[in-house]
Amino acid sequence: MKIPLLPSPLSALVCAWIATTSVDALVAPQLASRAPTSGQSMTVVRRSRPRLDPDTINAWANEKTAALGVKYGGLNPAEQKRASGMNLLTDQQFDSSYFGSIAIGTPPVSYNVILDTGSADLWIATGSSNQTSTSGNNPIPLFNPTASSSFTGSNTPFQVTYGSGAVAGVIGTDKVQFAGFEVQSQAFGLVNQATPQLLASPVSGLMGMAFQTIASSGATPFWEAIVNSNSALDSPLMAFHLTRMINATSARDLEFGGTFTFGAVNNSLFTGDIDYQNIPSGAPGFWILDLDQINVQGKTVSVGSGSAAFAAIDTGTTGIAGPTEVLTEIYANIPGSQQLSGSQGFWSIPCNTDFSVSLKFGSSSNSWTVSPDDFRLQQIDDNTCVGAFFAMPSSGGQTPSWIIGDTFLKNVYSVFRASPPSVGFAALSSEAISLSDPNLPVPSPTTAPAPNSVNNNNGSDGGGSASDALAGFKVPMGLVTFASLFLGAMIALA
Ligand SMILES: *[C@@H]1O[C@H](CO)[C@@H](O)[C@H](O)[C@H]1NC(C)=O
Ligand SMILES: *[C@@H]1O[C@H](CO)[C@@H](O)[C@H](O)[C@H]1NC(C)=O
Ligand SMILES: *[C@@H]1O[C@H](CO)[C@@H](O)[C@H](O)[C@H]1NC(C)=O
Ligand SMILES: *[C@@H]1O[C@H](CO)[C@@H](O)[C@H](O)[C@H]1NC(C)=O
Repeated sequence: MKIPLLPSPLSALVCAWIATTSVDALVAPQLASRAPTSGQSMTVVRRSRPRLDPDTINAWANEKTAALGVKYGGLNPAEQKRASGMNLLTDQQFDSSYFGSIAIGTPPVSYNVILDTGSADLWIATGSSNQTSTSGNNPIPLFNPTASSSFTGSNTPFQVTYGSGAVAGVIGTDKVQFAGFEVQSQAFGLVNQATPQLLASPVSGLMGMAFQTIASSGATPFWEAIVNSNSALDSPLMAFHLTRMINATSARDLEFGGTFTFGAVNNSLFTGDIDYQNIPSGAPGFWILDLDQINVQGKTVSVGSGSAAFAAIDTGTTGIAGPTEVLTEIYANIPGSQQLSGSQGFWSIPCNTDFSVSLKFGSSSNSWTVSPDDFRLQQIDDNTCVGAFFAMPSSGGQTPSWIIGDTFLKNVYSVFRASPPSVGFAALSSEAISLSDPNLPVPSPTTAPAPNSVNNNNGSDGGGSASDALAGFKVPMGLVTFASLFLGAMIALA
């Protein structure tokens, strides 16, 4: 889920941050909308990053991509009918978000979507003709339903409310391909209204990868349709390696973001065993683990038990969010840290010190370390950084107490396993670590040739519950970028 946390005194800081980076997705779940306030002026500076002009980048990337024969959309024809597939990811804005590529319709057309294990709806920005959104500097490619012969429309409204942001449109059904698989009738939201800057070019939408039970649309998520088909996958799991560019001074806005695999793990990207921990019973339909312990500078901070320890493992969130009391205790162990003035949510930390923070989940004895480079989420001035752990006011409902986002996930190989329901982490291999390299080519989408296909009987009507679900949205969770908070009302995309 990509939901913003905006303690009001930080607004100016965030505005400045947005102004300089345009798509930041430091996020927390389902918070009340907060209007921006004035009165504070802080300038956010990134560590200096030489920039190339876009044409140079594109030419260079295309050349590299072609040279390596990178396949972004799925399997080679020769490899059809294998029961696993992959999708190369793109890292957007120095680890703010990670997107992959799906293809929709007949003929299939590729779109970039945020891969979000913290929500469960698929949606895509849409327009009535072949065009791109005119809002913003960089147009967003729009899905054109009339150009697809396999598309079926409906009048069923689709809406997901994410904190102060939202997307709205109608439900449609079409063929969707991703990571070497195809669902013949996948229900998804055709979004024609979105909070501005919810989408940042070249991203056109979002693929929710949590469980159907939290889908606002009620539709079976793509991954679950494939898993439910029984025959399609080698193993009922999805795995991520996410690259780190936050500390690479030469990193550009789009970089190689890592590897997603569906149906199998990629053995070259981790070492040792995958440490699976079960999703606790009673957990809502996120990928939840019990957060057992946080270790900060050698001190143990306990996080409570039961739902207080529920932590959503969320590729769609940039940082790590948790309850204020525990965050206060965490930062009490960070010398020189300070709550950002008036802010309940963010703390500053000295930039020039490496702090040691690690997390334990479930009943595991493994403690997974967060790199100090990831803990320094953003730089405010020469000496002051913003810590990647931030507080979210308890928002009740099914919102998990903790959101464990990319700040953590970059440090491990992560596996989301449907059966038995669990999330596993493993140590990154040296090969995986070497892929956090701004010199690697940025993946470019190619349409998957004839992927493994699944006839999703439950997809077209959202498991028979789409209209029920839409009568009263189930769990409004999901995507919002920082920027969306400030820009208020929804705008038409086309
Ligand atoms: C839109 O794009 C599709 C696929 O590229 C093409 O077949 C169709 O002719 C286009 N329609 C218009 C109105 O340009
Ligand atoms: C970035 O951070 C990682 C993890 O802390 C470290 O191994 C790597 O050397 C850093 N890279 C740069 C360019 O500082
Ligand atoms: C494993 O990941 C590497 C690095 O992205 C990739 O080159 C390779 O093709 C992947 N292998 C499989 C089987 O997915
Ligand atoms: C459709 O969904 C229902 C309820 O979730 C499930 O029992 C049934 O097996 C599903 N059918 C298919 C074909 O996936």
